[in-house]
Amino acid sequence: MEADRIKWNSRFESQDSFLGERPSPFLSREIERIISLTPGFDALDIACGEGRNSLFLAQHGFKTTGLDISDIGLAKGRKRAEINGLDVDFRRVDLDSHIIEGTYDLILNFNFLLRELIPGEVAALHPGGLLLFDTIMASEQLLQNHSAAYLLQPGELVKLFETYNGEILFSEESTIGEMPTARLLFKKTKP
Ligand SMILES: C[S@@+](CC[C@H](N)C(=O)[O-])C[C@H]1O[C@@H](n2cnc3c(N)ncnc32)[C@H](O)[C@@H]1O
Repeated sequence: MEADRIKWNSRFESQDSFLGERPSPFLSREIERIISLTPGFDALDIACGEGRNSLFLAQHGFKTTGLDISDIGLAKGRKRAEINGLDVDFRRVDLDSHIIEGTYDLILNFNFLLRELIPGEVAALHPGGLLLFDTIMASEQLLQNHSAAYLLQPGELVKLFETYNGEILFSEESTIGEMPTARLLFKKTKP
């Protein structure tokens, strides 16, 4: 949606690095487990923003594609990739209408929630492929200025993934602090 592009462009313009240059702590924590489990090294980063997680995956040998609607965020990601001698395929797409092309060994869905996209994410995983999900849950405080549509309900993430052919290798919900978060690692079943 054009409104998303305008909103996120303005956020990414407002600071050198809106979400920080370091990868998500959750991804850093899990990278060794991911490398030990992934069937290959083709990765997709959904709503990659300024590319902090895409770049981290590229540093760890993943051939990474990052999708986002914000041309400003993507431009920052491309610049950092160039400076660091990394190759990431950053592409501008509107995920509200985008159909994921190709298949991947690893998909990241961090800090972004579009429930309708999840079936396409699972379909785009190679057999044995991994999907790492980490996003915000609703709280009374967050509901004051965020739309409920973009916030997970407690227990919802596991329920969403239980319906697919695969295994939830772990899930956790953290309610400490201002940003309650749900996380999950899903592995698609081999045929
Ligand atoms: C909170 S940021 C998360 C960025 C990244 N996943 C991370 O954790 O660093 C949310 C991202 O969703 C992107 N986004 C919002 N709506 C979108 C849409 N309709 N299509 C594609 N990207 C979208 C924004 O541009 C922004 O980069």
